[in-house]
Amino acid sequence: MNQKKKTINARSYYVLVMLAAFLIAFLAGMWALNSSIKESNSRVLSISFDRTIDDPKSEEIYVIASPGRYWKNGELKGNQYSLTLYNKSAHAITDWNVSVQIPQGCSLESSWNGFWAIGGDMLYYKPADFHLNVEAGEQKSFGVVMYSHEDVPMNNIFLSYRENKKITTYPVFWVLLVGAFLDVFLVVTLIISNIQFKRYTKTHAAYKDLVRESLRTMANIIDTKDEYTKGHSLRVAIYSRMIAEKMGMSDYDQERIYYIGLLHDIGKVGIPVSILTKPGHLTDEEFAIIKRHPILGSSIMKDFTSIPGALNGILYHHERYDGKGYNSGLKGEEIPFEGRLICVADSYDAMSSKRCYRNTLSYEFIMDELKRNSGTQFDPEISKYMIELIEEGYAPVSDAEMEDYEI
Ligand SMILES: [Fe+2]
Repeated sequence: MNQKKKTINARSYYVLVMLAAFLIAFLAGMWALNSSIKESNSRVLSISFDRTIDDPKSEEIYVIASPGRYWKNGELKGNQYSLTLYNKSAHAITDWNVSVQIPQGCSLESSWNGFWAIGGDMLYYKPADFHLNVEAGEQKSFGVVMYSHEDVPMNNIFLSYRENKKITTYPVFWVLLVGAFLDVFLVVTLIISNIQFKRYTKTHAAYKDLVRESLRTMANIIDTKDEYTKGHSLRVAIYSRMIAEKMGMSDYDQERIYYIGLLHDIGKVGIPVSILTKPGHLTDEEFAIIKRHPILGSSIMKDFTSIPGALNGILYHHERYDGKGYNSGLKGEEIPFEGRLICVADSYDAMSSKRCYRNTLSYEFIMDELKRNSGTQFDPEISKYMIELIEEGYAPVSDAEMEDYEI
C-alpha cells in the first residue's frame, strides 16, 4: 500500500532545465546571427553605373556624377565634377571607394572630401576619414576639378563598399530577444513561485500536523474509555483508508476517509464506561444507550464541517445494507457511502481484536462472516475489498505496524 507522492519540486526542476535549454538556444541563435552578419559585413560589394544624371532607382546605394560647365584653358577643357553617394538602404556602409572611366590625358587640378588619383584611363577616389562611414539614408558629396582634352561624360562609374548591417535590423534578432526575455521572465517567475510554494508547503504541513494530532488525540480519548478497544479508532481509520485506496479514491479522499474512521465512535465519550466495559451480555436498556452513540457523535461533531462526509460516517456506521441497522434504518445506497465504508472496517476490527466479552475471532470465522453478511449487513462492493485486504495480508494491522500506516 505505497502512497504515490509526486512532488511539485521535481516538476519545477524539469521545467527549469527546459527553460535553461531554451535560453541557451536563444543565445546560440543570437551568436549565430551575429557571426553571419559579421561575415556578410566583411564582403566587398561592387556596383557599376552607366548613367550620370538620372537616378538609378533600381539600386539603394548608388553614385551620381554631375559635370559642371566647361571652361577653356589653352588647349585644355576645365570642369568641376560633383559626385554624390546615396545610401538609401536600411543599413550603413563603410570602406567605400569610387572609380570612373575617363579619356587619356586628363590631369587633376583640385578636389574635396577625399583623395583622387589618375591611373591610365581610370580616375580613383578614396573618401576622407570623415566620409568613410555612410549611415542608412545618408548621402556624401565629393568632387574634383580636372582638365582634359575632350569632354568627360563620367558615365561609367564603379562603386565598391562593405555593408555595415546592425544586428537590430534583422527581425529574427527581435524574435530571439523576445524569446530570451520571456524565458528569463518565466525562470524568475518559476523560482519565485517555487520559493513561495516551499513556504506555503511548510505552513501547510504545520497545519496538517495540528489537524492530524488533534484528531488523533480525540480518537485516543474515545479509545481510552475502554481498555479493550484501545487503538480501535486508529485501526478503523487505517482499514478505511486501505479500502478507499483499493477503490481508487484520490489521495484527498483517502485522507478524508482516514479522519472519518478516527472519529466514527466519538459519540462513545457520552456513554458510561460501565456499559462500554461490561463483560457480560448487555440488558436491552444498556444496549439502547450504546446504540445512541452515533447520534451523540453527530451531535458533538455538528459544527465540524471541514472534513466533508464526517457526519455521515459518524451517524450511519451502524446502519446495515439490508436496512436492519440503527439508528435510521436506511437501506442499500440510501446509506451514505462513508457510513457503509466505516461499517465494514469497524466490524472487521471488532472481530479481529480482543473484546471484554470474548477473545479474537479466527481468520476463517471472520472471512466467513464477511462473505456471509455481504449484501445483508455489508455493502458487498466494500466488503469485497476488505476481504481482498485480508487475503493479501494487509489486514489485520498489529500494534507494531500501526505507526507505518498512520497518516
Ligand atoms: Fe460505533
